[in-house]
Amino acid sequence: MSSAPVANISIAGLLRSMKSRGYTKPGAINELIDNAIDANATKIDVRFNTETNELIIADDGDGMTKAIADKMYCIHNDKEASSKIGLYGIGKCAAEGLLSDVKSVTTTITKHANDRLWEVNADWLHSIAANEWTPRAAGASADIGAPLWDKEAINKVHGTVVRIPMQPNNMHSIIESMDTILPEIAYAFQECNDVIITVTVNGIVLSMKTEDALGWNDPALSDKQRLSTSLEVFVKDGEPTRVYHREGGVFKRFNPNPTTSTGKPIDVLQAALLDDRKEAIDSGYSLNTSLALRVVYNPKWNPPPITGEDGTRPEFIRGNVSWRRGKRHIARIPQDVPISGDHERRRILGSVRSSIDYDYRSDALIKTEGDKSRITKENIDPVLLHTVRTIIRKWSAAYYTEHVKEAEIANNQAHVPVPRDILHWFKDKWSSDAAWRETIKSEVERAKGVQIAH
Ligand SMILES: Nc1ncnc2c1ncn2[C@@H]1O[C@H](COP(=O)(O)OP(=O)(O)OP(=O)(O)O)[C@@H](O)[C@H]1O
Ligand SMILES: [Mg+2]
Repeated sequence: MSSAPVANISIAGLLRSMKSRGYTKPGAINELIDNAIDANATKIDVRFNTETNELIIADDGDGMTKAIADKMYCIHNDKEASSKIGLYGIGKCAAEGLLSDVKSVTTTITKHANDRLWEVNADWLHSIAANEWTPRAAGASADIGAPLWDKEAINKVHGTVVRIPMQPNNMHSIIESMDTILPEIAYAFQECNDVIITVTVNGIVLSMKTEDALGWNDPALSDKQRLSTSLEVFVKDGEPTRVYHREGGVFKRFNPNPTTSTGKPIDVLQAALLDDRKEAIDSGYSLNTSLALRVVYNPKWNPPPITGEDGTRPEFIRGNVSWRRGKRHIARIPQDVPISGDHERRRILGSVRSSIDYDYRSDALIKTEGDKSRITKENIDPVLLHTVRTIIRKWSAAYYTEHVKEAEIANNQAHVPVPRDILHWFKDKWSSDAAWRETIKSEVERAKGVQIAH
């Protein structure tokens, strides 16, 4: 962490904003798992206890020294982007606030190797009532946490145990929706192969099927069936966002809405790409975010064969655009690929998945949103989505050309559409949601430099 400000924030405001944004319980649990992974945990237990109405999240990670534990609940919006998942310093605060329903005292007990045990209690009821964020008893002595630590720690040498007392109805609703929560956790951490994440309810281990939704690691695929390309998002105040993607070694600008001089739209598949990245930098554009786009073609996802004119054929096939930071899948946007056209083309269209992988240079696209676990249809830059969509189209068209029928490409019939309503929704939301982004921004601004009273 860089020199992070010790900050104070309106917890009520933050939670309200997040809840209204659809911040979910699986999202909150994933935030706490993120933190354990960032601390190099190899084992993470998520334990629900319906008798005590407690959620315990224990890890065998590095643990925290007193200095780190003291700053655990501080916003650090100046943190250097790194290979870690955590970036903003609000994950723990938001997750515990949501899971405790701001009605209980959450406890974190942590131990760094060769250091003592530290306990930090966060009194959410007090904080919400006072509309302030004041972690209580920060850095209390080792003896206080010992019983809980002795009972719950995975590794007695170093690690962290977080205890979240929950409202019974809150706990029960989580248990009842476990069928949807487990896949969310499994999906998010499907590529974190070096960590064992175990979810238990009253000691019973729930099986969590991790899946490679993109199919990137399917050993049956050849390199030809996997495409990876880089995207760079450049911004300049008052100017439209520019998105470049790599084509044959150079970054070319994707033109989201190409038109002829008469204003007539040009099909994006035919539009020439601009190689003006250098010019953009020279004229004051700066790199905002860099991403990697991965597209997979896997014939095994093909729709079932059609048995004849009256045979059943699916109307849509479920595809995924998956947003990631490193190995952490942050959000998945399902896209229903309409099944239309001839059999061969259906086979191609139904067999493409794609993912967007955040590179860490800058997270500015989502920074003002304040909640990385909910990168959703609403808060992804529409220009970027449009780019992704077009690259998928181009790529599937290229595949189609190479492997299926050149003639059809000439008629521009091969495509993988993202449902049009998503794009429209993006555009509307993006332009109308500035107020929300401003709220979070001003919260963070206000938080800077305010010392927590001990
Ligand atoms: N399980 C843990 N093990 C070790 N350190 C932890 C753990 N949980 C939290 N921390 C410490 O507390 C800090 C705050 O966590 P928090 O989740 O609020 O922020 P973050 O992970 O840095 O960023 P983000 O808001 O993106 O999650 C972390 O930066 C880390 O130093
Ligand atoms: Mg975090």
